[in-house]
Amino acid sequence: MTKPHIQSHVSLKLLNTFGVEAKAKFFCQIRHLDDIQNILQNPTFKDIPFLILGGGSNLLLTQDFEGLVLQMDIQGIEKIQETQDCVLLRFGAGVNWHSAVCYTIEKELGGLENLSLIPGTIGAAPIQNIGAYGVELKDVFESLEAIEIATGKCQTFTSSDCKFGYRNSIFKQELKGKFIITSVVLRLSKNPKFTISYGAIQSKLESYDQDISLKTISNAIIEIRQNKLPDPAKIGNSGSFFKNPTIPNTQFESLKNQFPSIIGYAVSESKTKIPAGWLIEQTGIKGKHFGNTGTYEKQALVLVNHGQATGKEILDFSKKVQRFVFEKFGIQLEREVNVI
Ligand code: FAD
Ligand code: EPU
Repeated sequence: MTKPHIQSHVSLKLLNTFGVEAKAKFFCQIRHLDDIQNILQNPTFKDIPFLILGGGSNLLLTQDFEGLVLQMDIQGIEKIQETQDCVLLRFGAGVNWHSAVCYTIEKELGGLENLSLIPGTIGAAPIQNIGAYGVELKDVFESLEAIEIATGKCQTFTSSDCKFGYRNSIFKQELKGKFIITSVVLRLSKNPKFTISYGAIQSKLESYDQDISLKTISNAIIEIRQNKLPDPAKIGNSGSFFKNPTIPNTQFESLKNQFPSIIGYAVSESKTKIPAGWLIEQTGIKGKHFGNTGTYEKQALVLVNHGQATGKEILDFSKKVQRFVFEKFGIQLEREVNVI
């Protein structure tokens, strides 16, 4: 087995979509499973913290990382099973998410089209059960393989093992930081059912005047996202900074009396989900600059780096946003982004 190349004092500025500076004490790109085993057997790395990095699009680095950063670059797409209705594909953890979406659309396999243009890697997608426009990873997820950092053992996780929830999984809870996901198997449909109930998708599709297909849905999603979310290559961000909060219906009704334009979606008989972007906008800070940070002008839920912000500045600003929302609505926003 060839030894993985370990570098020291590596800048992570270009490896996180917020574009903030932070250095890794040690850094290694992981291309093969052997690289991981080699590192886990190396006594130098026995007692130091690891940070597993994909595309860096759901992270806020607030300080230098005094440990080993493993950047996942395991590639490869493999068909492992085909039935009359579906195909199971295994993707290496380092495969770019949107390339995977495009690959499936080219093969006319349904399931990922609504998740077009989400940044990052396949290996990170289960961590927060990525979702958009009525579809979540869990809807197409079959299983994943991961290596336990403490033992070097490889383990398979099924969907129920992963305990998926809204922007949540076991890897954000009790197994946080304990496993390196090396590959993910997705179940794609040969007879896709389209999920196009979102008004924005329907009006885009109508404007195309073409038959509805995986490709047209993907194009519609791409256009919608490009119109409302900042491109990290131009303005640093990590997508939605907070989760959309869920509150009891009784609290929603009393807020509705005070704020008649409040938006809410029933998620169960007793709970309503409120768009955090709406709450933040109502505090009057949408599009405003606070030093080097602020909220995006077209989507208040997206906190941005106007160029020179540090991770600490963005974190402090996010706490201010939480305070503004709490003071106005009595709702505590929970972070979606992983703070390091
Ligand atoms: P990273 O940011 O590198 O890592 C995220 C977390 O996962 C970290 O805790 C990291 O340690 C861990 N991790 C990463 N890879 C592995 C691995 N192989 N094994 C173990 N742990 C790992 N998310 C959505 O759900 N829906 C959206 O619509 C959406 N839109 C976005 C739009 C923009 C413009 C941006 C910047 C982000 C958006 N996101 C969205 C968030 C982000 O793209 C996803 O969470 C994505 O899955 C993160 O992938 P990544 O490879 O960049 O992960
Ligand atoms: N809204 C406002 N003001 C704003 C932003 C939003 O009033 O500044 C209102 C919108 O008008 C709309 C509602 O809030 O009525 C919802 O907005 P949007 O459709 O933009 O979606 P979101 O709830 O803000 C969620 C996800 C996104 C995902 C979209 C599409 C979370 C935390 N975010 O955003 O995911 O792409 O839905 O499904 O659930 C991400 O996780 O990084 C992300 C971008």
